[in-house]
Amino acid sequence: MSKTALITGVSGQDGAYLARFLLELGYRVVGSQRRSSSLNTARLAYLGIEKDVEYVDMDLVEITNVMRVVEEFEPDEIYNLAAQSFVGLSFEQPIYTADVDGLGVTRLLESIRVINSKIKFYQASTSEMFGSVEQTPQTENTPFFPRNPYGIAKLYAHWMTTNYRETHGIHACSGILFNHESPLRGREFVTRKITSQLAMVKHGHQDYMSLGNIDAKRDWGFAGDYVTGMWRMLQSEKPGSYVLATGEAKSVRDFAQVAALELGFDVVWVGNGVDERGVDRKTNRTIITIDPKYYRPIVVESLVGSPLKAEMELGWTRKVGFAELVGAMARSDDKQAQDRSLAF
Ligand code: NAP
Ligand code: GDD
Repeated sequence: MSKTALITGVSGQDGAYLARFLLELGYRVVGSQRRSSSLNTARLAYLGIEKDVEYVDMDLVEITNVMRVVEEFEPDEIYNLAAQSFVGLSFEQPIYTADVDGLGVTRLLESIRVINSKIKFYQASTSEMFGSVEQTPQTENTPFFPRNPYGIAKLYAHWMTTNYRETHGIHACSGILFNHESPLRGREFVTRKITSQLAMVKHGHQDYMSLGNIDAKRDWGFAGDYVTGMWRMLQSEKPGSYVLATGEAKSVRDFAQVAALELGFDVVWVGNGVDERGVDRKTNRTIITIDPKYYRPIVVESLVGSPLKAEMELGWTRKVGFAELVGAMARSDDKQAQDRSLAF
């Protein structure tokens, strides 16, 4: 008999890729969404699986709602991907972020404990928990030091996941995932912001784009590779915490340079600090400026993870490299800017 997976946050980037992966494996996929004025299935439609997923309304802030959904659909596995996932916004909405990203996870864990403690649970933890890093590269044993309300809420959820595993014997795993991107990434995150806006500049829909801290470094992988690691965690005999990462750090500046090249610009950087600009060598046009409004109140300068444990214990490997990832995102946005078909 096929297994049932409940994916919270199915409308997001990871939700879409995970749903496709599980459907290919023969799972019945139930996707929960928080109620809004319209069903947000654009990413699932892009992957051609919109009609293959069963949808249910579920908001992580409402415990009775969470319990009824878990009871009704009897999932074998729950993948908790739902979150207020934008670090910048968490400074403005710290309490909401704590409620959804922190307490929301306890609501799910309590539902599992009360309804059926055999349900396997995946929690979408994050490299933001390392924050002001105490060792490089970061591993499952690196001490945590989060530097924003998002990372702090996620750290609470990580420890609750660990605690329910140890206290109640639930097969609960925490995937400590470093940044992962794709053409389906939300446009407010820096990678997609760069590829979508530089494509708009290329096609004459805007003159230039603005960024914040371009020297920040992140470990960027492809979301499609990372969702397979989530599944592997729940299939392993022993539940635990696993880092998924590429092991390579690149700066926002590097990302912009490679994306620009893919879109036909040859960027040289001139000036310093807020006056720095990215100029297209061929036309001498400024296509990137710095705008302090995109600076964060406190910075996480550099994150880079070691995926060794996941590689050794789960047999997980990532397939897509940095240049390939940036190229795919830039080409997808080039096409969307050309057609002005802004689906998501
Ligand atoms: P995303 O695209 O922002 O998707 C987040 C999802 O959560 C959306 O489907 C959103 O629904 C849903 N959601 C938000 N608030 C909710 C609530 N109160 N109740 C129910 N659903 C709610 O994020 P993603 O990039 O796919 O990431 C998936 C998960 O992995 C998140 O938990 C994120 O924090 C974590 N993570 C991501 C990365 C990364 O680099 N992508 C790295 C580490 C960890 P709407 O469609 O209604 O907005
Ligand atoms: N969003 C954004 N916009 N970020 C910018 C900009 C800008 O204009 N300019 C520079 N940055 C820098 C940010 O300061 C940060 O250092 C880096 O680019 C990446 O920012 P985001 O793409 O917004 O992602 P994030 O690293 O803060 O968070 C993402 O990755 C986490 C895992 O490390 C999100 O997906 C989180 O949900 C996830 O947990």
